[in-house]
Amino acid sequence: MSSPKFEPTDDIFDFVIKKANGVKGLVDTGLDTVPNQCIQPKEQRLDKNQQVDNQESIPTIDLSNLDDLNVIKSIQEAASKWGFFQIINHGIPLEVLENLKDAGHNFFELPAEEKIKYYKENGGTDESVLLYWSTIGDKDEKVLEWRDSIKHGCNPQDDSNLWPPQTRNQVLEFQKWGKPLAKKLLEVLLKGLNVNEIDESLEPLLMGTMPININYYPPCPNPSITIGCRRHCDVSCITLLLQDDTGGLFVRGTKGDNWIHVTPIKGALAVNIGDSLQIMSNDRYKSVEHCAAVDSSRARISIPLFVNPRLDSVIGPFPQALEDGEKPVYKQVLFSDYWDYFFSKRPSGKASLDFARI
Ligand code: OGA
Ligand code: NI
Repeated sequence: MSSPKFEPTDDIFDFVIKKANGVKGLVDTGLDTVPNQCIQPKEQRLDKNQQVDNQESIPTIDLSNLDDLNVIKSIQEAASKWGFFQIINHGIPLEVLENLKDAGHNFFELPAEEKIKYYKENGGTDESVLLYWSTIGDKDEKVLEWRDSIKHGCNPQDDSNLWPPQTRNQVLEFQKWGKPLAKKLLEVLLKGLNVNEIDESLEPLLMGTMPININYYPPCPNPSITIGCRRHCDVSCITLLLQDDTGGLFVRGTKGDNWIHVTPIKGALAVNIGDSLQIMSNDRYKSVEHCAAVDSSRARISIPLFVNPRLDSVIGPFPQALEDGEKPVYKQVLFSDYWDYFFSKRPSGKASLDFARI
């Protein structure tokens, strides 16, 4: 079957989004320049020569012995200082991770008429499966990120039968292994906040839903003027992210305006703190801005598993986390209100936390 054609006069949003060709479909037409609607304003780009700091790096933590006090301390410290770390020997078999990345390729390499089954014009938060594209800017001035994504929702009723057959079993397997790992990491992090166990009452708050996205970043003729995933913080408690060996994930460094590359390590997962845990920890743990750049010759796959509060949970600083005389800097907010603010306003950088700040 021949690739769909894209003429310069065609509506790019119609071609990429409504017809589900994706940015990948655009690249498959053989285009050698970036269409105007994909050129990012300067403040959304990443200048690898000017802004990337090769002196700093985020820690890699070996989880072989999670009872070791040094390991526990290094996780808590990484969450406070960087908000981001990588984990190795985490217990998820390499095969599960490799199969998941392959599944991502298999799905995004399908023809548009297969993928369009998973596209909805107004996908809601509780969608079981959703193919989507991200745009920024005002209605008249949208810019497309260089990325195709699919969300595998996580509703109380198991509706994974609605997921694509290309990804279903692999995503379920990742979720099966990811859940106990996420719980162990959260337990370590909560110990640092004087919360000693995640019992049944805390589970909905800390790990109420665990949706999994697959991001597919097609190769780009000019990566320096586009972005795969614009700078943002996650709304989660924590996120576990699997990436392939292409590279391209960047995290804000400790100097404020520098960015650090999260160098791919085979079999590793990147872990980051999201806004929800920053709020619950009263700023002890940091939700840090990150973004994904694209490559000029390779398609990149990344797969985040977001460990989120349930939408009806109330999030706020744990009283146990407050040390002598320390005042909470956040109020108690309904997570669904925070979520709505986050995704409707798309505030830049860390501004979303102001919604919950006292
Ligand atoms: C995300 C994200 C980074 C990446 O999906 O929230 O930060 O490397 N992705 O794709
Ligand atoms: Ni993210």
